[in-house]
Amino acid sequence: MHIGQHAPAEHVIAHVSDTHVGAGTTVYGRIRAAEQLRTVMDRIVEIAPDAIVFTGDVADAGESAAYETVRSIVEPAADRIGAEVVWVMGNHDARAPFARHLMGVEADPDAPLDHVTELDGLRIVAIDTTIPGYHDGRLSAAQLDWLRDVLASPAPHGTVLAMHHPPIPSHMPLMTVIELADQHQLAEAVEGTDVRVILAGHYHYSAHSTLGSVPVHVGSSTCYVVDTGADPRGMHAVDAPVAFDLVHVHADRVVHSSVPVSPGALVLDYPVESLDHVSAMTAEVRRETFARASADIDAIALVRGDTLGG
Ligand SMILES: [Fe+2]
Ligand SMILES: [Fe+2]
Repeated sequence: MHIGQHAPAEHVIAHVSDTHVGAGTTVYGRIRAAEQLRTVMDRIVEIAPDAIVFTGDVADAGESAAYETVRSIVEPAADRIGAEVVWVMGNHDARAPFARHLMGVEADPDAPLDHVTELDGLRIVAIDTTIPGYHDGRLSAAQLDWLRDVLASPAPHGTVLAMHHPPIPSHMPLMTVIELADQHQLAEAVEGTDVRVILAGHYHYSAHSTLGSVPVHVGSSTCYVVDTGADPRGMHAVDAPVAFDLVHVHADRVVHSSVPVSPGALVLDYPVESLDHVSAMTAEVRRETFARASADIDAIALVRGDTLGG
């Protein structure tokens, strides 16, 4: 059973971006990107989503050793929970080793790694926005034709489009140097189709926007983050708390939630048994117990499962 007015999501996706794992232990002089990915995967195993989508910059410099490290962390975790893994190329990735080590296929470095994953009626389309040798992004006319072809027949639960370069503006002028070119062409290709949301990365900060009528969600990075509050004439990458996202795909909408990779100190604790007790209450008792402003929330939170509601 569920409580609340919305039925549970039909599909749950973990959206991880810009892991930037290197061939060595650290990247950018201090960041243990592989260790941070290991923590991310531990959290994802607990969440057990239906799919895990990596929106690019999986490796920091396209190194085979980095992809092997990533695969050794991600594959066993995904297998344990039976989650599909969707790999999307980023500008720090290199197509041939990316395809070989992560996807188990040989790829022509000049051919974009575009592919489709079917997830119980939900279609996840991965499109490769990279340009070998450059950090900005584009989609070729052939890729847009391919996308139009794929989207010509709708999927039962619609489509999630996953890409690295976000098709949205940035308030940081320096970001525009490495943005996706000709975003209006993608807007035309997805308008009126069953694309329900676009997932992207690349900016290393969380952002929400739209492309035409399609929502766009940009995930942050699990490696380093760009300080969005800094003077936008510069660009400051910082070793600050990192996050990934949960994407709950409901029948009528999509909800994104940010998950802290390191949850921090516990200050208020509702034990996991709480839900069983709360579910057994009538809606009226539940509201009086938890929603009344005068309820002692600390006392409720600290009550353990064996006495809660008991
Ligand atoms: Fe990145
Ligand atoms: Fe990037």
